[in-house]
Amino acid sequence: MPDAGAPQLSTPKGPAPRHVAIIMDGNGRWAAARGLPRAEGHRRGVEAIRRAVRAAGELGIRYLTVFSFSSENWTRPAAEISELMGLLRRFVRNDLADLHANNVRVRIVGEREGLTADIARLLVEAEDLTRGNTGLTLVVAFNYGARQEIVRAAQRAAQAVARGEMAAEDIDLESFAALLDMPDLPDPDLIIRTSGEQRLSNFLLWQSAYSELVFIPTYWPDFDRAALEQAIDEFHRRERRFGGLVAQTGS
Ligand code: IPE
Ligand code: IPE
Ligand code: MG
Repeated sequence: MPDAGAPQLSTPKGPAPRHVAIIMDGNGRWAAARGLPRAEGHRRGVEAIRRAVRAAGELGIRYLTVFSFSSENWTRPAAEISELMGLLRRFVRNDLADLHANNVRVRIVGEREGLTADIARLLVEAEDLTRGNTGLTLVVAFNYGARQEIVRAAQRAAQAVARGEMAAEDIDLESFAALLDMPDLPDPDLIIRTSGEQRLSNFLLWQSAYSELVFIPTYWPDFDRAALEQAIDEFHRRERRFGGLVAQTGS
C-alpha cells in the first residue's frame, strides 16, 4: 500500500516541455513564516534546486533555466548579498561533481563583470567541466537582467555595423536574437514562478514572447517534483497558437 500521505507522483500527461525556466521566488517569505532568518530560506532554496534538477532530468526536460540572482538583487542588504554569493560558491563546490556525474551540462547566463574573481572562476570551471555533457542542460541565470541582455545585444549589433561587418538593414529578428547571450538555446516553453507573485521581474523578456506562464503559490524552498509535474500538467492544458489560429501541439 502506498503511503496515503505521500504526494501523488502521476506522470504528467503529454511530453515534457523542452525548456522550462523557473523564477525561484519566496525564500524570504518561507523563512519569515517560520520565524527563521531569510538566510535559512535561501539555504533551503538550494535543496529545492537539487530536487528540481533531479525531477527535470527524470521527466525528460532538456533545458532547465533557474533565476538565482537578478541584476536588481544588488539593491538588497550587503549581508544578504554575501549570503547568496556564499551559497553559490558552496553549490558549485559541493554539487558540480554530482551534476557532472549525472551528465548535466551547466551554463551560466548573466553579467560576469563586477563578480568577485573567485566566483567568476567557479562559473568558468562549472561550464568547462560539463561542456561535453549530453543530458539535461542546467542554465543558471546569475547576475542576470533581461533588459541588460537586450542592451548588450544592441551594442554588439551597433559594433558590427560600425566595423562594416553588418548593414543596419540586416538587423532582424533572427540576426538580433543571435546576438543575445545564449543564442543556441530554444526559447522557454514554460516559465514557472513560485511564491504567488505574477510578474517576470526582468527575466528572459525577449525569449518569453510565447512562453506559457504558470504562477504557483508554493514558496521556492517547498518546490518539489509534484509541483513541477502540476505546472507541466497546466502547460498541457494551454493552447499555444503563436499568433495563428491553429493550436500547436507538443512543446
Ligand atoms: C528568491 O527569494 C531568491 C532571490 C531572489 C535571490 P526571495 O529572497 O526573493 O524571497 P522573498 O520574495 O523575499 O520571499
Ligand atoms: C526575482 O525575484 C529574482 C530571482 C528569483 C532571482 P525578486 O524577489 O528579486 O523579484 P521582485 O523584486 O519581487 O520583483
Ligand atoms: Mg522575492
